[in-house]
Amino acid sequence: MKFDFDRIVSREGTHSEKYAARLEKFGREDVLPLWVADMDLPTAPAIQKALLERMEHPVYGYTAYHEGYFDAITGWMRKEHGWEVETSWVVPVSSIVTALALSVEVFSEKGDGVLIQPPIYPPFYSVVRHQKRKVLENVLVPKEGRYRIDFADFEAKAKEAKLFLLCSPHNPTGRVWEREELEQMVRICREHDVLIISDEVHADLVYEGYRHIPVASLKGAGEITVTLNAPSKTFNIAGIVTAYAMIQNDRLRRKFSEIFRRYYLSEASLVSQTATIAAYTESDLWLTELRRYLSENLAYLHERLKQMPKIVPMPMESTFLLWLDCRGLGMDDEKLQAWFVHKVGIGLNPGISFGTGGSGFMRLNYAVSRQVLEEAMDKLQKAYDGI
Ligand SMILES: Cc1ncc(COP(=O)(O)O)c(C=O)c1O
Repeated sequence: MKFDFDRIVSREGTHSEKYAARLEKFGREDVLPLWVADMDLPTAPAIQKALLERMEHPVYGYTAYHEGYFDAITGWMRKEHGWEVETSWVVPVSSIVTALALSVEVFSEKGDGVLIQPPIYPPFYSVVRHQKRKVLENVLVPKEGRYRIDFADFEAKAKEAKLFLLCSPHNPTGRVWEREELEQMVRICREHDVLIISDEVHADLVYEGYRHIPVASLKGAGEITVTLNAPSKTFNIAGIVTAYAMIQNDRLRRKFSEIFRRYYLSEASLVSQTATIAAYTESDLWLTELRRYLSENLAYLHERLKQMPKIVPMPMESTFLLWLDCRGLGMDDEKLQAWFVHKVGIGLNPGISFGTGGSGFMRLNYAVSRQVLEEAMDKLQKAYDGI
């Protein structure tokens, strides 16, 4: 079966945040939006079919767990990531960020240190700050074009930390952490009694030559780790709002579940369950083709950017978000953002919004049809030639 990702699907009239919030975000509505981390590509047909079939029935009342919901998740972990998860470890949650925030609340106290690795997806900062915990930054270091962990610094920060919010694979650098790196992080966290909250939402979109390893599957890690995941990024269903935690340690799971129950947050909706089951049990072929399409898009961007040597794409090992080193353009962050919006005409996420280490970078979402990328690169080339 062939999935036509080249076909442009208009999101006009669908309340897409990426399009609707342009005026607010960029000050104008005519920018080509390549920012918010969802795809402009249609989801897997099996998901749409399952949703339509269920919607045919006109009663959308309170919903019990579907047989197959928990098995779909554990089956996916086994098949895609070689990780044996027991169904009893799975706790449905409303969203990954909700789970990050409530993990900070439940597993730390005001003033405690929480370790993060910037530049990073902005809520990693805000969930810590909102709850008056202390952000401890283990800043990732680009070395020979690849981001690395400064382990001496990681250990120094871990000594002061109660929690470590791991982003694996990492947004926005696109790093897929290697076994040795994960093992070293786990060893240090165990030694200093630091709990790991691992956001693995980008786990399924990993490029050839790399392999995602769920940190909790490593020896000694399951006992100290809360893993968060969702089909939202992989299958482009973020608007459905669905996610889950997997927690091996009974004591941690009880504590985690308790706060979700207290606020009545721990339920997977009718729509979320229907979509998750179809995603994880009937959409393999679509995902294989999507991965191919995204890697071809990435190759296309690399090719075009060769003509713009002052904008350097970092090598992406995962995700559909290209991290561009624009420091060669010699603009400060405000000027850089203004240049992309007003001179180029595309809306990207400014690197500084990802915190320390993000200055001079921009993030470009390439989960769009090739023709849209061509338009974006033509615009960029034109403005670049005019500098
Ligand atoms: C690393 C990471 N975590 C979480 C999310 C959002 O997850 P959710 O919509 O379930 O809160 C994103 C979205 O871009 C992300 O990149």
